[in-house]
Amino acid sequence: MDIIEGLRSRRSTKGYSAKPVSRDTILGMVDAARFSPSGGGKNAWKFVIVTERDKIARLSQASPYCKWLASAQAAIAVVIDPKATRYWLEDCSVAAFAISIAALDMGLGTAWAALHQAGDDAEGQRRQGIVREVLGIPANLNVPMMLGVGYAEKQPGPKIVPRLEDIVCWERYTL
Ligand SMILES: Cc1cc2nc3c(=O)[nH]c(=O)nc-3n(C[C@H](O)[C@H](O)[C@H](O)COP(=O)(O)O)c2cc1C
Repeated sequence: MDIIEGLRSRRSTKGYSAKPVSRDTILGMVDAARFSPSGGGKNAWKFVIVTERDKIARLSQASPYCKWLASAQAAIAVVIDPKATRYWLEDCSVAAFAISIAALDMGLGTAWAALHQAGDDAEGQRRQGIVREVLGIPANLNVPMMLGVGYAEKQPGPKIVPRLEDIVCWERYTL
């Protein structure tokens, strides 16, 4: 798939069909994350791939906004030691996006489940605590987000995006 076309057509997939996704396919999309940029080139992220139905169901309870995860064929939890890099959130975000674009290229859909909550640490820790417990992740590691993975149950339509002239100015801020 052409990269620009992929970026323009990408949508979050929050309803998945029962069609299975092979382990090699999931591994293939996570493989793309290895090539992500990271602050200072630290590459500190780890990825927990979850395919067991009962675990995915429990993960879907981690936040009020990821119930859709229950129908996913896999969940991918992005894990990082915040002591390893000050850019832990950025690095994980970039890696998660790389996985979602690789999935798109494979004809699969993904969606993001936010766990880290800037400005509401209690809620962020509550969400991450559930995921840590289900997946055996040590308390000192952060799990800022998960991705759901699967074939889309129905294809979402195109979305309304901001007009370029409303978000861009040249040489000086004039918006
Ligand atoms: C940082 C971030 C956090 C998000 N968290 C959630 C979430 O917790 N639950 C959810 O359903 N969607 C979440 N999303 C997906 C957004 O709702 C989605 O990207 C947005 O509505 C635009 O739709 P699109 O991805 O189809 O273009 C998140 C996306 C980003 C980038």
